Amino acid sequence: MSSTFRASLLQGKVAFLTGSSSGICLRIAERFAEAGAAVMLHGRNQDKLDAACAGILSTGRTASNVAADVRDYAAMAAAMQKTRDLFGPIDILVCGAAGNFPAPLMGMSANGFKAVVDIDLLGTYNTARAAYEHLRKPGASIISISANHASIPYPMQAHVCAAKAGVERLTQVMALEWGPEGIRANLINPGPIDGTEGMARLAPTPEAREAVVKTVPLRRMGTKDDIADLALFLSSDAASYINGAVMVCDGGQIHLGARTLGM
Ligand code: COA
Repeated sequence: MSSTFRASLLQGKVAFLTGSSSGICLRIAERFAEAGAAVMLHGRNQDKLDAACAGILSTGRTASNVAADVRDYAAMAAAMQKTRDLFGPIDILVCGAAGNFPAPLMGMSANGFKAVVDIDLLGTYNTARAAYEHLRKPGASIISISANHASIPYPMQAHVCAAKAGVERLTQVMALEWGPEGIRANLINPGPIDGTEGMARLAPTPEAREAVVKTVPLRRMGTKDDIADLALFLSSDAASYINGAVMVCDGGQIHLGARTLGM
């Protein structure tokens, strides 16, 4: 996609992205800002948020940030109100905050399991529920960042599999219930994406990385830009009839090597 074409796609739009102080969602936020949107970054760490926001502002784009835990409904409601007050109604909502660590079922405590389910699933609910009254209707687009774990069981990932299965169904119920008001809700399932905290946790050694790459038909890890471009498309008018869809962006891994973390 040429940068000139991209630069006009989201002109005048407002985007709120959870988990966007770093990683995939920060790259999506940067892409949205390049395309003309005002972006509200969200995360838990104020220092990381300030640094990420400064990066976008330094390019002359529009951004602000808010710190809140997605597990705290009141904090998310306040974050949405802040966004509305600053930028106006929200056109694009990205539910991207997630937690993960590899562990077998017997190696995770009840609290460890709950932490991931609460961040991923309850967090997506809290974010969308709190945003609803501030979403532009018609025209808003919601994207939940999920994973192939939603439909495929992976060992060492019971918490994420359970959480992402819920995120997928929850997002599709949004597509059904809110579609008549002109709100679209879709999912992106990234495969192994290079340079993310998730991959650093799941494939921390060169050997583990190589094992992961062998599970991907395209024989490479994905990039944050691969996901950002898909999110840009889904948020644009070019995707105006796509609702309730799971967009898999994994180099074909789901057809070959899913079910293993390369371990
Ligand atoms: N193996 C087993 N249990 C683990 C673990 C690991 N590697 N890492 C954390 N836990 C457990 C903790 O021991 C704790 O359980 P306990 O109270 O019974 O001891 C529980 O998980 C919660 O940990 P805590 O650090 O208090 O929770 P948190 O809310 O601050 O962190 C996590 C949530 C655990 C998901 C943390 O990994 C996180 O914040 N991740 C966000 C970043 C991330 O994972 N990004 C990648 C997304 S793909």
